[in-house]
Amino acid sequence: MCGIFAYLNYRVPRTRKAAFEILIKGLQRLEYRGYDSAGIAVDEDNEKDHKNGGYICLFRSKGKVKALADEIYKQTFLNFDKVFEVHFGIAHTRWATHGIPNEVNSHPQRSDKNNEFVVVHNGIITNYKDLRKCLESKGFEFESETDTEVIPKLTKYMYDNRESEDVRFSTLVERVIQQLEGAFAVVFKSLHFPCEAVAARRGSPLLIGVCSKCKLSTDQIPILYQTYKNINNGCTSKTHQTETEHFKCLHPTGEEKAIEFYFASDASAIIEHTKKVIFLEDDDIAAVANGCLSIHRIERSVGDIKSRAIHTLQMELHQIMKGNFSTFMQKEIFEQPESIVNTLRGRVNIETSTVILGGLKDHLKDIKRCRRLLLIGCGTSYHSAVATRQVLEELTELPVMVELASDFLDRSTPVFRDDVCFFISQSGETADTLMALQYCKGHGALTIGITNTVGSSISRETNCGIHLNAGPEIGVASTKAYTSQFVSLIMFGLLMSQDRISMKQRRKEIINGLQTLPNLIKEVLALDNNIQLLAQELFQHKSLLVMGRGYHYATCLEGALKIKEITYMHSEGILAGELKHGPLALIDERMPIIMIAMRDPCYIKCQNAVQQIVARQGRPIILCAKNDEEMRKFAYQTIEIPQSVDCLQGILTVIPLQLLSFHLAVLRGYDVDCPRNLAKSVTVE
Ligand code: F6R
Repeated sequence: MCGIFAYLNYRVPRTRKAAFEILIKGLQRLEYRGYDSAGIAVDEDNEKDHKNGGYICLFRSKGKVKALADEIYKQTFLNFDKVFEVHFGIAHTRWATHGIPNEVNSHPQRSDKNNEFVVVHNGIITNYKDLRKCLESKGFEFESETDTEVIPKLTKYMYDNRESEDVRFSTLVERVIQQLEGAFAVVFKSLHFPCEAVAARRGSPLLIGVCSKCKLSTDQIPILYQTYKNINNGCTSKTHQTETEHFKCLHPTGEEKAIEFYFASDASAIIEHTKKVIFLEDDDIAAVANGCLSIHRIERSVGDIKSRAIHTLQMELHQIMKGNFSTFMQKEIFEQPESIVNTLRGRVNIETSTVILGGLKDHLKDIKRCRRLLLIGCGTSYHSAVATRQVLEELTELPVMVELASDFLDRSTPVFRDDVCFFISQSGETADTLMALQYCKGHGALTIGITNTVGSSISRETNCGIHLNAGPEIGVASTKAYTSQFVSLIMFGLLMSQDRISMKQRRKEIINGLQTLPNLIKEVLALDNNIQLLAQELFQHKSLLVMGRGYHYATCLEGALKIKEITYMHSEGILAGELKHGPLALIDERMPIIMIAMRDPCYIKCQNAVQQIVARQGRPIILCAKNDEEMRKFAYQTIEIPQSVDCLQGILTVIPLQLLSFHLAVLRGYDVDCPRNLAKSVTVE
């Protein structure tokens, strides 16, 4: 949804300009998460606290981060060349949920006109109306329509009503977040606690990057568990008082003690500064004071891990840059020969026709005993489940249900202890999928994550999983993650069939097919120029229908989703078997239709559908096998692609539609990577 970024340096001399550049670059890397407005809060003068006239400057603007940056660089009072040893700035790029995109609804949100407390937030506070009412009754005046504004205001209220003068910043935040319901990742800054940062999360991702020239005091940060006594202070249902405890924290050792911290919604924003990261868990509160990071939790529960490790990220900066491509989406489409190789790497043995999935090995016995497979996801991730259902049914001989996470929850679908439930998600953070995961865990099912994001909530909360290894996907429209999800599910099917001799031949055929896939994808990508020409014919149309059946129904759904989300054309994926039950009424000589008809068991049926379309003056563009003379006879145009094994063919049929949607969007003049109203990671229900 929204993107959070914050930067704090301690004894690292930097000009003000350099600190702004870090904040702005961090936001730009997160823009794919939301981009209707952006904001930054920094100290006016890092050497002055509020008692000496210091204040927090707040810059917010509607539109993309570039607009915010232009605005900031116009501010001459900011002393861009002045060097400070300490800076602490918080920043945010927003995707509106409560309140229209405008300056006042942008983050950071503030406690009052003096900006005593400012907060950046990702997620939704579901009880904000009650909190707002209560704070209004205490005299607070709200300026925005956001749910977030209650957070800084409640913090100020807690501060103004503190029991002791020397209350810690982290203690205030702990009290505040105990009153919040819903999902959040938050970073706080305050005039009363200059150069101190406090961050917390529940249900929304947040990580901390650490960079130090000196040795760090530890590679495991012990968790401090706070003890509280209840007090009621009138506005909130319960408040608490900490008992002081000593705790260890992360700091640099050595003479210089120089350290920098980065807080971000995901690693793409910090990877160019550091690869050392700490993934916060739900209800963690992280605080930086005097260059030391400590992590606190309010309640200790059974099985809690006692520390947070510092992980080393494997991704490289060039993996998240555009390279020679004009957009991330285009780059990611063209990366598919490589991303598929990475998904397969070390997992498929062509000589023995076997598959090893290390992430499942400890649970394989239980998985094999299951009665049903449930594949759950949203959008494109759901389509990967539709695409592989048939081959999974064939290879596992189990009933396979495919479910849209939101609908699955709406129906309170029955789930049993002997079910195996897959949660398919590129980001690993999609709220609906995550909630479906909690639901299945609650029903005792075994849970498997298929995600592209190490350390994401879904990858952490499932019993086991398959990591896609597709590399970071930045374009909002998912492309390479889809084909890697597809391949991962097929590998799972192969693994499940490994002890069935009767399936040996079929397994071999699929595994050989997987090996040749990257080269076949390259052949399909070589059709790019033809597809661009086709886009020139189509881009002024209002609608585009995509039809097919069997293994290609998922391609129809996915192709139509790509087209509508980035070109804003109406597009529908239609099961060709349903044509005569309604959609045939749409067909005439003006309606553009793409028909997928590969040489597989549905070929003859697709041919019938094509004839029905032609008989109604329709002019189908047929996506078919190379040199298919039969189809050429009926087609207005063909897109001819190489043939693969039937169950893998969907990987090759989807790529022309990814390319077509890209070219249509460019020709229609739209921002391919940032389609309107959408966000890369949908962390709200
Ligand atoms: C479409 C698209 C979305 C996502 C959906 C789920 O191109 O990207 O439909 O597939 O929001 O996201 P993840 O896979 O991150 O759970």
